[in-house]
Amino acid sequence: MNAQPNTVNDLDAYWMPFTANRQFKGKPRMLARASGMYYETPDGRKILDGVAGLWCVNAGHGRREITEAVARQLETMDYAPPFQMGHPGAFELANAVVRVAPRGMQHVFFTNSGSESVDTALKIALAYHRAKGDAARVRLIGRERGYHGVGFGGISVGGMVANRKVWPAAMIPGVDHLPHTHDLKRNAFSRGLPAHGAELADELERLVTLHDASTIAAVIVEPIAGSTGVILPPQGYLQRLRQICDKHGVLLIFDEVITGFGRTGAPFAAQEFDVLPDMITCAKGLTNGAIPMGAVLVTKKIYDAFMQGPPGAIELFHGYTYSAHPVACAAGLATLALYEREQLLTRARQSAPVFEQAVHSLRGLPHVIDVRNYGLVAGIELDPIVGSPGKRAFDVYLKCFERGLLIRTTGDIIALSPALIIEPKHIDELVTILSQALKE
Ligand SMILES: Cc1ncc(COP(=O)(O)O)c(C=O)c1O
Repeated sequence: MNAQPNTVNDLDAYWMPFTANRQFKGKPRMLARASGMYYETPDGRKILDGVAGLWCVNAGHGRREITEAVARQLETMDYAPPFQMGHPGAFELANAVVRVAPRGMQHVFFTNSGSESVDTALKIALAYHRAKGDAARVRLIGRERGYHGVGFGGISVGGMVANRKVWPAAMIPGVDHLPHTHDLKRNAFSRGLPAHGAELADELERLVTLHDASTIAAVIVEPIAGSTGVILPPQGYLQRLRQICDKHGVLLIFDEVITGFGRTGAPFAAQEFDVLPDMITCAKGLTNGAIPMGAVLVTKKIYDAFMQGPPGAIELFHGYTYSAHPVACAAGLATLALYEREQLLTRARQSAPVFEQAVHSLRGLPHVIDVRNYGLVAGIELDPIVGSPGKRAFDVYLKCFERGLLIRTTGDIIALSPALIIEPKHIDELVTILSQALKE
């Protein structure tokens, strides 16, 4: 217990997630404090946060209202068992989420992360059909280049090769994938939703023909895919998916772990794109990233299908020790109140034109082969170095960090997703640093 604050004597014990451990530990990048739009390193360097932590700190860092709510809750009641017991915060938060959710989303199941939300939604989809007497509907359809977290369900429906190839035998059976919608040939340098590719949704008809509708339970997609490098839905694509799902009695799940809570300019992408799924998975912005928490939002149709058995029977054999954790609920309630007070869930609509202009000014810089954007999310795709995929973007990531900017990269794509409180001066600073790093 003799380590000094902010002094790390031994980096060995901590096995870092999704990180090149040996490379990192040879030259660590540490963050020690955060406030508003900025992080600060242990030696006091300010770092502009271009990615809201990891797509989650939507109201900016260090919001006092959330901190105080968490502290208060810890003092009042630190923990309450969620099975066969309740506490007011859980019900209040579910109601508060329903108030900002798309009309028709009326019930909320709490989890602790996006991955758990996804696996929960997939389980609900299978159990829903079973409850309706349609137990043969067991297939799940995901999409290439989709990311749905790291549970076995999530990696099975996900389409990120690196996340799947090590565990081929552990994939859940009966999963198929739609093609992704990334099309640089036709859509490079699109502003907003790309014009081409709605017809890719028709691939779902092909899968229905192949497997037969009577075996398919659900389709899961991210309205905007974030983790595989900001892949936007072509105009009309999501509407078409919805129509095909309706035609064949297949549930549609939107994974809104990154698009939820204001990223697109509406509280959820389902509202922004005017397509109502049967379930929405979310996490991250639900508590402003301050306390881990996720949720699955479902329509009345889904919930009601479970509420049919004999009274006293548990309707869904699923849940977590920390489902609706009182401290997470307090953080969530304070976060949603903050979003409402500052009108943050629609603020991206106002900032988007300035953000769009700024990110598209990067067009023409060395190796930039695409810039794409929607709301407060942008992707900048770089030409890969032959034989070293991902290296070019990672070099830019390192240069940005040296110059005081945190970005995120996946392969050779840079993703930007700043907090919704971002102002024009931050957008200027972000793009200035990024363009310097790109020019190097
Ligand atoms: C669309 C989507 N689904 C699921 C997840 C997994 O969330 P978590 O890391 O909280 O498990 C993420 C994480 O970025 C995500 O972007």
